[in-house]
Amino acid sequence: MAVGAKARAAFLNDVLAGLSASPRALPCKYFYDARGSALFEAICDCPEYYVTRADLALHEAHIGAISDHVGSGAHVIEFGSGAGVKTRKLLAALHQPRAYTPIEISRAALNNSARQLARDFPDIEIRPLQADYTQDIDAETLQLDPPSRRRVVYFPGSTIGNFDHDEAAAFLGRMGRIARSNGAILIGVDLMKPVPVLLAAYDDSQGITAAFNRNLLERMRNELDAVIEPDVFEHEARFNSTEGRIEMHLVARAATAIEVGGQRFDFAPGESIHTENSYKYSVKAFRQLAGRAGLASKHVWKDPDGLFSMHWLEAS
Ligand code: AVI
Repeated sequence: MAVGAKARAAFLNDVLAGLSASPRALPCKYFYDARGSALFEAICDCPEYYVTRADLALHEAHIGAISDHVGSGAHVIEFGSGAGVKTRKLLAALHQPRAYTPIEISRAALNNSARQLARDFPDIEIRPLQADYTQDIDAETLQLDPPSRRRVVYFPGSTIGNFDHDEAAAFLGRMGRIARSNGAILIGVDLMKPVPVLLAAYDDSQGITAAFNRNLLERMRNELDAVIEPDVFEHEARFNSTEGRIEMHLVARAATAIEVGGQRFDFAPGESIHTENSYKYSVKAFRQLAGRAGLASKHVWKDPDGLFSMHWLEAS
């Protein structure tokens, strides 16, 4: 099967499974087609979405201390394409880094950022790797140097918040197996904060997050020929206090149906499709989660406003 046909089949499979489930849910990875990725970039510039600015402020405030922790001659492996300002700040601050491996599923994004990084950091060996970093990647594919060379897995942003606790613990475990006993994980984690601040961040006044969420319906229409009344579905951000997470939903405001893949899914008014979780952590709660993966948080940095954290995790 061609790559496009395979991806379409997987998307259809996930949509059929998600709409058949109770409660209905779709994986948030499907947000990120070209339009969704552009909308996410726009979200990062929204005044209400503090996450990106706080992460950047953290890097600005602590990059010296962070690079001292990384030490000299390290191989940095980033889960993500490394196109951003934070990666550049880190690479510029590191002490004689050995190599940098951005891992990214989109070949275009990967090649683009790798080319620019190679140009701007000629002394660092850039080893781009096209792969789905949520899956196991073996050491050979990663082109790892011997374990005596320090490996640091870098995962800024707060994407760990988009995994549930079990998935996050398993994911941390995989990163820990790459870092091995001599290495570390440098990971961004959004901190818990007052509910109105969180709700505004996930339902901005310009409606960009709403468009990002509703883009899933557009993808289903365009790529799966789904029959949907998109205007009936509204974006809603909810805080789930039991789980400590923001949830995004697409809520049917009137009775409607979605027809896709030869199946029909009826929605009563108020029924929703749960499209994303974004878990928020205290420092203590994240330490406990890391402990489940056999990792100990040896250092934590915060941005000057105390909104966002970065943990330095080592094998415990
Ligand atoms: C990618 N991830 C860390 C974002 C978040 O904050 O959970 C995705 C996002 N969803 C809505 N706004 C941003």
